Amino acid sequence: MTEKEAIFQRHSVRNYTDKAIEPEKVSQIEEKVAQLNAEGNLHLQFVADAGGTYNKLIYKATGLASAPSIIACVGKDADDLDERVGYYGEKLVLFLQQLGLNTCWTGTYNKKQFPISVGEDERVVLVIAVGYGQTQGKTRKSKSAEQVTAGKAQKPDWFNSGVELALLAPTALNQQKFTIKLNDDDSVEIVENGGILSKVDLGIVKCHFEIGAERTI
Ligand SMILES: Cc1cc2nc3c(=O)[nH]c(=O)nc-3n(C[C@H](O)[C@H](O)[C@H](O)COP(=O)(O)O)c2cc1C
Repeated sequence: MTEKEAIFQRHSVRNYTDKAIEPEKVSQIEEKVAQLNAEGNLHLQFVADAGGTYNKLIYKATGLASAPSIIACVGKDADDLDERVGYYGEKLVLFLQQLGLNTCWTGTYNKKQFPISVGEDERVVLVIAVGYGQTQGKTRKSKSAEQVTAGKAQKPDWFNSGVELALLAPTALNQQKFTIKLNDDDSVEIVENGGILSKVDLGIVKCHFEIGAERTI
């Protein structure tokens, strides 16, 4: 499964089976986490036993309490930490999808209810639930390309492909508060327009756009 195919197949999944992630897959995940941490200067951590991450009633209601494992998204505090967490965290989400696993980014969870190491200068940005879903999730409402793009009227195919995949990016509350601008010199700028965790969203959207457009921005 390519990253592109993983994007088309991925949906947020909140209800999981109790099947544990196999040891071979755990090794692959840990290897990928180490690679992305090096690339993104992050301290993402895979926690096999999600423990009490989702142990409140609300999470029982949404199903998240069934998540067997998590990725804790941690990094040295910096202005661009949230965006890097979004960008590299989504690379990991797509890798997990390629392994046949399901995920859900979660901005709300029980803090300090899972065993991770957080240095003095580090911050936990948010957590990603991981496991085998009871279903593969479902398609949701989306803004149109016109609603999220700006700039030059004549849009090349590679730009439209990037936008198509950006619109499949998970965003907090499905807010999709971003604008993708095509400049006259064909460079691209993606900005967030405010909202909860919108800088994490921005990183996720950039990751998807680049995969769709087959170029880095
Ligand atoms: C930064 C971020 C935070 C999120 N926080 C939560 C959360 O706390 N609880 C939850 O159930 N879903 C959460 N989500 C999942 C979104 O609701 C979901 O991505 C969105 O509705 C789009 O659906 P999709 O992921 O199936 O495309 C979050 C997503 C993102 C990107």
